[in-house]
Order: sequence, then C-alpha cells, then structure tokens
Amino acid sequence: MTNTLDIDFVRKQFPAFQNPKTANFAFFENAGGTYVPKQLIEKLNDFMITKKVQPYGDFGPSIEAGEEMDQSLAKIAELLNVSKDEFIIGPSTTMNMFLLSNAIQNWLNEGDEIIVTNQDHEANIGAWRKLAERGVIIKEWKFNTETAELEIEELKKIISNKTKFICVCHTSNIVASINNLHEITKIAHERNIKVVGDGVAYMAHDLADLKNIDVDFYSFSLYKTYGPHLALLYGKKELLQKTKNLNHEFLSAEVPYTLNPGGPNHEELACLSGLTDYYEDLYNHHFNENGISLHEKGKKIFQLIHGHEEKLIKVLLEFLKSKKNVRIIGSQSHSRDIRMPTLSFTVNGISSKDIALGAGKNDIGIRNGEFYAWRCLHGLGIEPNDGVVRVSMVHYNNLEEVNRLISYLDTVI
Ligand SMILES: Cc1ncc(COP(=O)(O)O)c(C=O)c1O
Repeated sequence: MTNTLDIDFVRKQFPAFQNPKTANFAFFENAGGTYVPKQLIEKLNDFMITKKVQPYGDFGPSIEAGEEMDQSLAKIAELLNVSKDEFIIGPSTTMNMFLLSNAIQNWLNEGDEIIVTNQDHEANIGAWRKLAERGVIIKEWKFNTETAELEIEELKKIISNKTKFICVCHTSNIVASINNLHEITKIAHERNIKVVGDGVAYMAHDLADLKNIDVDFYSFSLYKTYGPHLALLYGKKELLQKTKNLNHEFLSAEVPYTLNPGGPNHEELACLSGLTDYYEDLYNHHFNENGISLHEKGKKIFQLIHGHEEKLIKVLLEFLKSKKNVRIIGSQSHSRDIRMPTLSFTVNGISSKDIALGAGKNDIGIRNGEFYAWRCLHGLGIEPNDGVVRVSMVHYNNLEEVNRLISYLDTVI
C-alpha cells in the first residue's frame, strides 16, 4: 500500500520508454493519442500471429479469437462497471457520435431542441448540429469568455420544455477543466432530457463512474487512453433497446450490435484485455488488498495517478504564470478537482506554430492549433489556425521531462 505512483514501474510497462528511438523523447501530445503498454502490445502481436482468422468459428484459432474478443469485452465492462451489452466498440468517438445521432433520430420531432456547447470538440457538436436538417433546433451553451468555463446557470437559461438532449464534454480538450456531468445529468433528468457526454479528454486521467454520474450516453477514445485506435460508446441498456437498428435487418434483435455496423476491429478488440491487465499490474504493484472489483482497483490506481499528474501540472503552471506575455486558457489552479493536466496557452507576439516547431527540434512533442475544437477557439477569440500551444501530460510523464519542456519554453517565451 502506497500513496505515490511508482513512476519508474509505470514507465517500464511502456516499451516506448525502452526503445532507443523514443526513450529520450519528451512526449506531451497525449491528448492526441497515448503510448501503449506492453501487456496490450503482446496480446496484439500474439493475436496477429496465431488467431488472425474470422472469429467465432468451430476450429482452434477461430474459437480462440472469439474467446479473446469476448474476454476483452468482459474485462472492459468490469473496469467501467457496466454490463457487456451497454456499450459498443467503434472506430472513433466522432463515428460513435454520428452513429448515435442517427440511431435516435426517430426520438425527435420538428421543433425539438438539442443543446450543444461551444467548448466541446466538434465530435459532440457536429453530429447533433446535422439534425437541424430534420427540423431540430440547436441551441448553444456558451462558455464564459473570461474564465472559459461552462456555467450551469447559463445552461438552465436555455433549457426549455422542448429540450431533448444536452451534449457536453466531461472535459474539454482545450480548456481541460472538469465539467460537473453529474449535476448536468441531474438537472437534465428532472426535465426528462437525455445527456450525451464526451469523455475523451477525461478518461486518460480518471475512471468515470458512469452509473453514479447517471449519464445516458458517453463516448471516449481508447487510443487516447493507452489502447489501440478504437472508441467506446456507452448507453444505458433501456435506451439502447430503443435506438434504431443501423445494422443489417436480420440483426435487429442484437442490441447494441445494432448500433455498430461492420462490428469492431477484431485484433484491436482482442488486445483490449491487455489494457485491463496493465491496470491490474499497476494495482498489484501498489496495493495488496485483493478481492475487490476491477472497477474499484481502477479507482484506486487513478487516485495515485491524480497525485502524480497534479505535481506535473503544478510545475508547468507556476512557470507559465511567471511569464507576463503568456495567456493560460482556463483555470490557473493545478487542483485535480478542477482541471486535468492538459494546458493550453498562447504567447503574445510569438506564433504557437513556432513554439511547437522549436519544441520538436528539441525532441519535445507538443502541438499547436484548434484540435477540432474550433468553436472553442473562436469563443476564446483566438485565431484557430495558429491556435493555442497545447501541452497534455499523462501519468507516465515525469518531472524530468516537464523540466526539459520548461527549459525549452524559457528560451522562447
Ligand atoms: C474531447 C475530444 N472529443 C472527441 C474527440 C474525437 O475523438 P476521435 O478521434 O476518436 O473521433 C477528440 C479528439 O481529439 C477529443 O479530444
């Protein structure tokens, strides 16, 4: 039992930190896509060699392929504390949101309203905005331009008796503060409104308790949470039952496969149990209490991760706060209750592109731009092409890397 994350142990799980090509690269573009642990890579490799056949047949490799896919689904369900038929594994959150918006179209009548935000990534906006073509009215919940925060009072002002959905990010990939999805859902449910949460920028840093939050639908991208290029869409069972079948006619009873035409990528699904193995290994390394669920283990691990990530962002925040010409987007607090360790900023008089380019030349991976949250950039009054510089850290980053980044930034800011 320990209170601190063993960062050396963590980094040993990620082959990228052992490979000479990447070992000395300070990687801070995790909100774009994270590194992958060895537990998952080994499973993927093995599947590709010994089971890369059509699964669920009656011969050895095919039986095993199906079993591994089922095992991954079971483990992911356990990790999230949801049931196996409450989620699909699709190619991306963008695609999942399009599938969902198609599957609930017949729940909506002309004149019904959907609330989207201007803080979100376009994935949880665009799919919903397209429903305007069918007579649905789209309302925008705008963030406070001073703080970049979404305020619940503003939401209440735009809810009406025609509102059917509120689509909102759990965390914005630019602003990075944590939106109170639990409270939003409570307000929505009192008015019989459904909530669609985007957890993409949240789930690398925490394990959302979907049942407790009571959110109706929730998607996050597994490739940004230490997995392969897949994304998960959760929906409450009773709601998924009511969605339209987007799949073949003869599969109409196969909920939630009905939302997933073509099904998931087999090898990537099969190796997902490697992700839960990674979490188990982390747990066993840090704790000795057994007999608790994978979800409970995950929550305990993320408690350690919170502490570590807070330390990293505190150092970077303090440095950026000391610079007069830097505009930090969102909260200036490093507190885990308020924000995730993703930090966007602009520097007066210096292009964001130049900062990112210079970092790349110093073996530091950061990026600039609008990160597909271009409405957010407009709302912030920032030209989206050059956009913000974004530094996104996760638990495998260490202080030495942050200090390298700071040394570099100090030469340009
Ligand atoms: C907050 C957020 N939502 C949604 C997405 C889209 O995810 P995907 O690439 O899986 O479609 C991203 C991608 O950057 C994101 O950061």
